[in-house]
Formats: sequence, C-alpha cells, structure tokens
Amino acid sequence: MNDLDRRLIEAVCRNDLQSAKKIVKIILEQDKTQKNRMFVNRYLTMLNNSAMNLMELPADLKNLLIMEDVSVSFNENRYYLSNRENEIVGKILKLYKASQRLAEIGVNYINSTILYGESGTGKTTFGRYVAYKMGVPFAYLNFSRVVDSYLGSTQKNISKVFDHVKQQKCVFMIDEIDAIGMRRRDSKEVGEMSRIVISLMQNLDTLTSDVVLLGATNRLDIIDEALLRRFTTKHEVKKLNEQERYEMASKFLADVDFDYEDEWLVGFCERDNTQAGLMNELVEALVERYVEDE
Ligand SMILES: Nc1ncnc2c1ncn2[C@@H]1O[C@H](COP(=O)(O)OP(=O)(O)OP(=O)(O)O)[C@@H](O)[C@H]1O
Ligand SMILES: [Mg+2]
Repeated sequence: MNDLDRRLIEAVCRNDLQSAKKIVKIILEQDKTQKNRMFVNRYLTMLNNSAMNLMELPADLKNLLIMEDVSVSFNENRYYLSNRENEIVGKILKLYKASQRLAEIGVNYINSTILYGESGTGKTTFGRYVAYKMGVPFAYLNFSRVVDSYLGSTQKNISKVFDHVKQQKCVFMIDEIDAIGMRRRDSKEVGEMSRIVISLMQNLDTLTSDVVLLGATNRLDIIDEALLRRFTTKHEVKKLNEQERYEMASKFLADVDFDYEDEWLVGFCERDNTQAGLMNELVEALVERYVEDE
C-alpha cells in the first residue's frame, strides 16, 4: 500500500468525498501507461465535470448560489492564460496576502476586482481559474437570477447569500452585476432597484479579507457609480489576438492528443473569434475527426 492508497482509504472511511476525489485525480494523473490511457481519460473527464464538484449548500441557497470545488474540476491544461490575465491574477494573489496581513492589525481590506468585456471572452472561466490558483472554492452568484426573483424578496436573498459566503475562504463571483442597471431603466421599478443596489453595497461592505470578490459584466457602462467604486481593480477581459488564439488552440489540441498540420491551425486561428467561439470550433474539429475515424 502506498501513501496515496492510505490517504484514499482514510478519506473514504471518513466519508470525505471531496478529499477522496482529489486523491483519485492524483492517482489517475500519475498513470501515464498506454494500456490505461482510455480508462484514465474517461474518469478524469468525469472528475473534471463542474456538476460533479458542486459542494453541498443549505436548502434555501440552492437556487441562488453555486459553490464549486475547482481544485478537482478546473482543468489547467486546457486553460489559456494570456499575459494580461496573468498579470491580474498575480495582483489579486498579492493583494490577498497583503489583506490577510492587514487583518492581523485590524484593518479590513476587501480585495475586489470587476471583470468586464464582451460575451465569450472568458470572464467566468477566469474567476474559476483564480479560485483554482488560490486553492479555495468558487462561489458563484448570478445576480440577474437574484434580481429576477420576486423583487420583494431580493434583499433577503442577497443577505442570505452573503451570510453564507462570509463563513468561508473563497473566491466570490457576482456575475451579471449589471442586472440592476438594466432594470433601473424601467421607471416603475427605480425605487425598488435603488434599494437593491444599496442593499448589495451594504452587504459588500461586510465582507472580510477571507473573501476575494470578483464582479463580472459585459455592460460596465450601466453600472451604478457608487457600486463600481466598491471594486478597487477594474480589468477588461479582451478577445485574444491571432497569436494568442494560436497558443490557446495549440495548448488545447496538445492536451487532447489531436494531430494536425501547422498550416491548418494557422488558417484556423486567422478568423477573428472570441475565446468561446474558438473553443466551439476546436470541439467541432474534434467531432469531425472522430466521425471520420468511425
Ligand atoms: N482562457 C481560456 N482558455 C480556454 N478556454 C477558454 C478561455 N476563456 C474562455 N474559454 C472557453 O470559452 C467558454 C466561455 O467562456 P466564459 O463563459 O468564461 O465567457 P464569459 O466572458 O463569462 O461570457 P459571458 O459574458 O457570456 O458570460 C468557456 O466555457 C471555455 O470553454
Ligand atoms: Mg460569464
């Protein structure tokens, strides 16, 4: 019995499924033998599935918040980190360490970044990456879902989410944070919406240095000024340029063992595309290849 076997047995006997999954992932990744390749890939794919790695939440939060154990589900081999995002993740990590030290001397600093940019540039994926790098869970709140619920209960729901998030170290992403801005245009709802913005801001002010806050939007222009000020860093997640698209595609194709002519890939990456668009086309190319092989 080796050390990993022992740790796996301990985790299973303690009913600690999260740890068991992490150990199984290590065991699978260590096996590089040809004979087990299919087995390893099949089960790594299952482990990497986000839905498989959602953490248990209290019943009244299940429809509002998602808590994901990205240490198992995030696949770094398929994530392309541009220099811009590398810089910002470095800054977030440094601020995190600084904010922890500040907490020791009684100064509360909330490490908060708003990510903006067009749809499909990888804002949400970047949030998961930050949590993965920090080794903490990824708490995800889609703000438009909270706002779209009965307006009257929105403030109560916001508080419930924050009360839960505050209890742990995590990266907390509030996605579609522009949802309130959108609704504010409807004059009938202005008063109610202002109350929601205020409530959100009051809750943001109660966060501590254990939570790294990320906001995400593709409509920076309609976000309330006071709300925007709560975010100390503002970062645009941009579409990749041609060279970067080539690097992202090569990284992905290497990880899925796809053989190709360099010329083909160069042509493939010439087309302007968002990260999401590029990924979709890569998957299509894989599908085509597999269909041909059948
Ligand atoms: N840096 C990246 N490396 C690899 N794949 C990426 C990257 N960024 C995005 N993707 C791919 O694009 C998909 C969409 O990205 P994501 O949902 O994070 O975009 P988004 O900016 O949050 O979009 P939206 O504004 O519509 O919510 C991801 O599921 C992933 O497959
Ligand atoms: Mg998103």
